[in-house]
Amino acid sequence: MQITESDAIESDFKHILLIEHQNEVALWSLKNFQESLTAKDYFKVMRFNDEAVAFIIAKVMNYECEILNLGVEISMRKKKLASKLLHNLIDYVKSRNIKQIFLEVRASNIAAVNLYDKFKFNEIGCRPNYYITENGKEDALIMGVDL
Ligand SMILES: CC(C)(COP(=O)(O)OP(=O)(O)OC[C@H]1O[C@@H](n2cnc3c(N)ncnc32)[C@H](O)[C@@H]1OP(=O)(O)O)[C@@H](O)C(=O)NCCC(=O)NCCS
Repeated sequence: MQITESDAIESDFKHILLIEHQNEVALWSLKNFQESLTAKDYFKVMRFNDEAVAFIIAKVMNYECEILNLGVEISMRKKKLASKLLHNLIDYVKSRNIKQIFLEVRASNIAAVNLYDKFKFNEIGCRPNYYITENGKEDALIMGVDL
C-alpha cells in the first residue's frame, strides 16, 4: 500500500472533512481547517491514491507544541497511520528544540488515550465536564510529554 505524507493543501479538505465527520463528535468546520492552513500550523496529510486518509494539525510555538487535531479514515484505522504522523511530528519538534507536546482529549476516547500513552504522554490536567455530549457532560484530559 503506497501511502505518502506531505503538507496539507486546499484540495485535501474534501476528504479531511469526511474523516472529521466519521467521529462521534465532529468539532472542526471547513473554516477551522482553512484557518490552520492560513496560520501555517504544522498540518500534514497522508494520502492513499491521492485521497487524504489521515491528518495531523499542531500549533508549534517557541517552547511547546499543541496537537490541535488528528484523524484517520475509519477503514484505515489500526494500521499505525496515526503513530507514523505522531512520530514524524515528534521528530520535527525535537529538531526545533521544543521541549513539550500537549493536547486535549475526551476522557472516553480510549483509542486516542491509548495512542498517546504509547508515546509516553501523561495526564497533566483535567477539565471536568468540559464537553457537552448527548448524554450529559464529559471531562477533557490534558495530556503531555516532555521531549
Ligand atoms: C485515535 C486515532 C487517531 C488512532 O489512529 P490509528 O491510525 O488507528 O492508530 P494506530 O494504528 O497508530 O494505533 C496506535 C495505538 O493506538 C491505540 N489504539 C488505536 N486504536 C485503538 C482502538 N480502537 N482501541 C484501543 N486502542 C487503540 C493502540 O494502543 C494502538 O497500538 P496497537 O495497535 O499496538 O494496539 C483514530 O482512531 C481516529 O481517527 N479516531 C477519531 C479521531 C480522534 O479521536 N482523534 C484524536 C483526537 S485527540
